[in-house]
Formats: sequence, structure tokens, C-alpha cells
Amino acid sequence: IRVAVIFGGRSTEHGVSALSASSVLAALAGSDEIEVVPVGITRRGQWMLTSGDPKELAQSGREMPEVLTGTEVVLPADAQTRGLLAVRPEEGVAALSDVDVVFPVLHGAYGEDGTIQGLLEMADIPYVGAGVLASAVAMDKEYAKKLLAAEGLPSGPYAVLRPHEKTLSESERERLGLSAFVKPARGGSSIGISRITDWSELETAIATARAVDPKVLVEAAIIGREIECGVLEGEDGGPPEASLPSEIRVVGSRQGWYDFDTKYLDDATEFDIPPNLPADLIAEIRETACRAFTALDGAGLARVDFFLTSENELIVNEINTLPGFTPISQFPKMWEATGLPYPALVARLVRTALR
Ligand code: DAL
Ligand code: MG
Repeated sequence: IRVAVIFGGRSTEHGVSALSASSVLAALAGSDEIEVVPVGITRRGQWMLTSGDPKELAQSGREMPEVLTGTEVVLPADAQTRGLLAVRPEEGVAALSDVDVVFPVLHGAYGEDGTIQGLLEMADIPYVGAGVLASAVAMDKEYAKKLLAAEGLPSGPYAVLRPHEKTLSESERERLGLSAFVKPARGGSSIGISRITDWSELETAIATARAVDPKVLVEAAIIGREIECGVLEGEDGGPPEASLPSEIRVVGSRQGWYDFDTKYLDDATEFDIPPNLPADLIAEIRETACRAFTALDGAGLARVDFFLTSENELIVNEINTLPGFTPISQFPKMWEATGLPYPALVARLVRTALR
């Protein structure tokens, strides 16, 4: 099976994607069945056929990896069929159209948001993960919340600031209260997110979020435990399956919340798989994760992130249709703890995409 692993890209999560790809490429390297075509996309959007050496995409200290070199890949603008993704380096022709399946190990814009999924649909190439609609909806925190609420899975209080809206009204501030999180509507890895404890900080926080996305969400901070749960599409057309959940405990972070540095740069988190919770609550988390996956028309995989309040109320924070595969990422770890080691997980994702 020829699998094109695509990573990097134009999103703010370029480095995280490269780091995820490093793990995925290493996991695929052991398979006799799978031949990998490693395609990196530079920050500017140039597609490159790369060496696929996981070590080249490893993190070095606080430096995130980046796609820099490779053989240029040409995407002919006039092609309308599978030829759309022909790879035509100056010398020799490799063809993406010859791959059996694409694994977009891309996070954020142009990767997790339905855009590359649309390109692959047009080219009639099977791919790992959610389709166009689920990808686009899950990427947009406003619409994800709306669809989840329609399924009876409410989020915490939030407000949306559309591009023409400068700030929050007094009544909205009162409704939400402090502290609050100010987020780009379509972002990831906590990039562009600020926690504010005074409304005087709102303006700067909005500007920070708007550097990522003109649409901004302000969410009331939820006091509670932070829990994640992995979901996989059922094998052979069965219902989705949830992994054991993981609890994230931020222990040493400067900011005190699960921000970018805490996630990827500092050694400031501890994880419990499964969390120290009664069995019925663990079961409820897994069942709710599957409901959220289904509500958004999920496919392939997703990670559902929750808050668990002190009253044991479960609140869905968000769904990630291409969750991180980095060395600290919980999606593969949760599946490992559930009995699906990394190589088997990746092989299953490829199998599901080909079904
Ligand atoms: N957006 C990052 C990659 C995650 O959800 O894991
Ligand atoms: Mg996310």
C-alpha cells in the first residue's frame, strides 16, 4: 500500500505537524505492507517530496521542526481528475496520483479544516480522517459548539466576535464573567489564545487571537479537570470506538494553563491514563466522546477534549479531527493504553481510509 504522508503546511501549527509526522513516519517505517511517500509542505505552501527521515523532523530543544528541503512538487492547475496531484519534479516523475491513500498529518488551516480533504475528494484519492464537512465544522469552534449543542452536548458560556465586531458589550462581559479565554475561532495548539483576568486585557487578547483568525471566541473559563478521549471509526462499518481517557494535569507552567509552551516546550504536564475516576464516569466520557464524534459526522479518528466540573458535569471543550501525534500527544498514548500500539493504530487508520 502506497501511503502519502503529508505534513507541515501553511497553518500556525506547521511545526507541530512536522513533529507529528516524525512520529507517524517512524511508526509506518516498521510496516512491510506500507510504502511511504513523504510530502512536506513548506510554511509558504510549496509541496516537497522529502527524505521522510523521522529524525529530520525531530524537535531540537525549544526549536520546533520545519519543512525546508526536498524535491519540488508541481500541482498542475489545469488538471481535473486524479492527475490533479501529479508530482512532477524536474527530474523523474513521481506521481501522487499513484498513491493508494493520503494520510494528512496536518493540523489547523489547510489541513484539518476540510480544504485538503476537498482537494483529495476532487482527485478521487482516499484519505485518512474526517471528510470535508466534519473537518470544517470541527475546526470552527463556533459551529462545532452549535452542532454539539443540537445533539444535547452543551459547551460552557461563550460569545463570538465576528470580524466587524471590535469588542464585547457590557452585558456580554457580565454574562461570561472572569476569568475568560480569548481564542481564534479556527486555531489549534493554543496558538493565539490568551487567558484574561481583567476586562482591560481584552483588547490585546482580541488582537492576539485575530493574528490567527479574524473571528474570535471569548469563553468563560471552566473550573474543572481537563480530560481527553480518543475516538476511532469502527472497523468494518461498526460504531465508533473510544479509547481510555487521559487526564492532563498542568504542574509547572508559567501561565498555569495548557498553553503552547506547556504542551510542546516545557516539561510541565502530567498525564493519567486512565484518570483517577469512578468506572461509570470513565464509561460516560467514552460514550460522550463517541456521541460528539457522530454528531459532527466524524470519520477515521478524532480526539474529544472535555472539562469535568467539580459537580462531575462533563463539558465538551472541542473536537480535533487531526489530533497531534507528537511525542507528548495523548491520542496515540491513549490508544496504546487501550491495547492498540502505535504501529497498529496507524495501520488501522490506513485500513479504514481504504475501506
Ligand atoms: N491541535 C493539536 C495538534 C492537537 O489537537 O493535538
Ligand atoms: Mg484543538
